[in-house]
This record gives sequence, C-alpha cells and structure tokens, in this order.
Amino acid sequence: MNQQFKATRIAVIGAGAVGSTTAYTLLLRHRATELVLIDANRNKALGDALDMNHGLPFVGGVKVWAGDYPDCADADIIIIAAGAAQRPGETRLDLLKRNVEIFENIIENVLKYNQNSILLVATNPVDIIAYFSWKKSGFPPHRVIGSGTLLDSARFRYLIGEKLRIDPRSIHGHIIGEHGDTELPVWSLTNIAGTSLELPEEDKQEIFANTRDAAYQIIQAKGATYYAIALALDRICAAILHNESSVLTVSTLLEDYHGISDVYLGVPCVVDRTGVRQVMKLSLADSEIEMLRRSANTLKDRIAEIRF
Ligand code: LAC
Repeated sequence: MNQQFKATRIAVIGAGAVGSTTAYTLLLRHRATELVLIDANRNKALGDALDMNHGLPFVGGVKVWAGDYPDCADADIIIIAAGAAQRPGETRLDLLKRNVEIFENIIENVLKYNQNSILLVATNPVDIIAYFSWKKSGFPPHRVIGSGTLLDSARFRYLIGEKLRIDPRSIHGHIIGEHGDTELPVWSLTNIAGTSLELPEEDKQEIFANTRDAAYQIIQAKGATYYAIALALDRICAAILHNESSVLTVSTLLEDYHGISDVYLGVPCVVDRTGVRQVMKLSLADSEIEMLRRSANTLKDRIAEIRF
C-alpha cells in the first residue's frame, strides 16, 4: 500500500535580508516540500515567492507562496526573522525594545493558527527574543529555539581552519553564551580529531575577536549579514525535519547550567524532530564558567526591562 504523502512546511515570517535569503537557501536544499513567506510588506513576500517560483524548473520539488498567518496552521517549523536589524555601530541589544514590540504581535498571530510547531527565532537580540517568544507563546522550551551561537561557532571554526589550513568541518569548537558581545570561546574543549589545539595566545585572541566582531565588520562593509545565518538556520531545520539528533549550539532555556537558570543562551544541544531534545552540559574551565555567567547576567538585566 503506498504511503500517504506527508508534506513538510516551513513558514518564514519576515522577508527581509535574512528571511528572504533563508527561504532561498531552504529552497535550494529542498529542506521542506512547502515554503510560505509572510511579511507585513505583502508585496515583498509576493515578489520573493514569484522570483523563487521562476527558478523551480531548475530545482523543482518545493511549493513556494506568499501567505499570511493562516498559512502557519500546518507549518512544522516557523522561522521568525522579522524586525529591525543592526545598523552600523548598533549592538544587537540596541534592537531589543523595537523587536519585542514586533514579536508581541507576531506571536499573538501565530498562536491563532498553530500551537504545535517549532518556533525558530533569528531576530536579534536572538537570545532575549527567543526567551520572550517562549514566555509569550506558552510553548514548552524545547519547541522554541534561537539560532544562538551556531553562526558564531561556524565563524570560529572557519577562522581556526584558515589559521591552520584545515577544513573547518574538521575543527570542533564552540562559541557559547550570548549571540553578541559577551559570547565566549570554549578553547578548553576545542579540538581537531580529538587533539587539542596548539595556537599561540595572540592567535587565539585574534581569532576570537574576529569571531565576536564579524557581524560589525560585515555590516560596515555591505549593510547586513544574511548568507551564513541563512545556512545556519537551514542547518537547524535539517536537524529537526530529518530527526538527526545533531549537536548544534542553538539558544535554549538553561536550567541550573553551571548555576545559570531562566535565561536563553547558546550552548551545544541535541536537536531532533522534537526540537531541543537535550542540553549538553559542557565541562568548562572556571574562567569559562565565569564568562558564561557574565553573559547570562547581561541578558537577564535586559530581560528584566521587558513587560511580559
Ligand atoms: C550575525 C547576525 C545574524 O551575527 O546577528 O551575522
């Protein structure tokens, strides 16, 4: 008996640089059989959908359309990339007030049509916006995921790979904490094929500084970042839709994580079809724990400003 075909749907809310590039990446990788683009500027979503549909003879296999909140009803994953993005000189935390207001409305509308999907938050400051989305949606924390420091860890691995002339896919290392200025490198666990790295201190400092400040550099150069974050979001969608149980440094709710609770931070998590199945408790050096706690407190101070 032939199996009833089960469509998979990803809704992308926010057709700005990140949302639009993410939708295109999902299309190229056939990540879902249905892609729906939602934006307050309906024309933008319409234009993106048309432009992608015209490419279907080259990629096939995906139904793309510009929709609205009712189209979230059957979404397996709802990616939210809507909101203000950093301007040159702005930190991600500077976006907090504007983007919480936008999310107030978005989450309210999503809840009208879907109580069971996984929410994947990309909007900055992503850890606080993911925390807000968790609180506002009432979803269990494992189904509200922030892109976290997955992108930062990729930048970290790339920069180490450049220094050592090794494929970044063979570099195992994590940036954890805030996706932002208080993030930290877990040098104590960074390795290549299980062997720890022999890098001079000044190289380590240069690699971490370039990792942490990468977005500022790119925004200064071209106004926004979108390619690597789109690939990071696609990577998370793959882990979910293919039930991979992959370890990815996404932003999730911490509970008694080295004494840190009630905040979203980027740490290695097992990601599968349920969302975050398990938070990996890293054995960190004392200095790393100290920096992670500082990162947590920076975010908790800002969370305290939000009226839930
Ligand atoms: C960056 C944005 C996604 O780091 O925060 O490129």
